[in-house]
Amino acid sequence: MEIRPLTGGLGAEILGADIRRAQDFDAIFEAFVNYSVVVLRGQDCTPEDHLAFARRFGPINVNRFFQPVEGYPEIATVLKEKDQKQAIGEGWHTDHSYDEMPAMGSILHAIEVPPIGGDTLLVSMAAAYEALSPALRIFLDGLTAVHSSRHTFGASVQDSEASVSGRLGNALAATQDARHPVVITHPLSGRRGLYVNPVFTTHIEELYPDESDAILAMLYAHCKQPEFHCRLRWQARDIAIWDNRATWHKAINDYHSHRRLMHRVTVAGVALAAAQAA
Ligand SMILES: [Fe+2]
Repeated sequence: MEIRPLTGGLGAEILGADIRRAQDFDAIFEAFVNYSVVVLRGQDCTPEDHLAFARRFGPINVNRFFQPVEGYPEIATVLKEKDQKQAIGEGWHTDHSYDEMPAMGSILHAIEVPPIGGDTLLVSMAAAYEALSPALRIFLDGLTAVHSSRHTFGASVQDSEASVSGRLGNALAATQDARHPVVITHPLSGRRGLYVNPVFTTHIEELYPDESDAILAMLYAHCKQPEFHCRLRWQARDIAIWDNRATWHKAINDYHSHRRLMHRVTVAGVALAAAQAA
C-alpha cells in the first residue's frame, strides 16, 4: 500500500489497498485520521462492499433528505444529470452538522464521473484554526454556534431544481437544530479545529446578531484561502472518505451537459467537545 499526500495541509491518495480486505483497514483508518480525507483508487466495490467498508468505521447514519439507491436505503444517491443545472453540495459545508451527534464522515463511491470537472474541494479546519492569531483563538474557544437543517432542506427550498427533480426530498423532516462549540477538540486526533460552516451554521449564540454575522463572515473568508485546501480529482471506481469534524467540502459545479453519479454512505459520529484550555 502506498500513501501519497495530496497537499501540505490535508488529503492523501492511497494506492494498492482494497476496501474489501480486513487487513488493509488499520492503515486506511490511520491515514484517515492523519490526512482528514483519503481517496482509494481503483476499487471493485458493490453496494454491499461499500456498506461493509463503512461499518468498519462505525454504525451507518442514514441521510434523511437524499434519494436512496434502489434496494439500499442506507446508501444515498448524489447525482447530477446532463440536463440539470444545480449540483448537490455546491456551498461550503460539513455534512450533518445540524445533528446533535454529527456524522463522523462520508464515504463516496464514484460510479460515473464527467470527462473533466466535478472535483470536490476540501478545507482543513484545523489548519485554518491554527493560522488565526492567538488572541482570536482565545476569543473563539468559549463560543457556541447553532446549526440547522431547516433553511437548506426544509419547505423554503421545495421549489429548487434538486427538490423538484426528486434528488432531495422529505422536507418535513428538516427540523434539526444543534448547538456545537465553535472550536472543537477532534475526537480522534485531539487537534483543535473550527466547527462552523456557511451552509448550516445560523449564528453564534453568545454574540449579538450583527457581531455573529461579522465574525462568521470573517472566519469563512479566512477558511476559503487555498493554503488550507485540497482538491480531489475523481476517477470512476474511487472510494473517498472525509472527516466531517476536520473538514469543509464543496462540490464544484463545472461539468454541465455531463452526468455525475456518486453513492454516499454516512458513518455516525459522536457529540463534539469544546477545545480544552491551552
Ligand atoms: Fe456534502
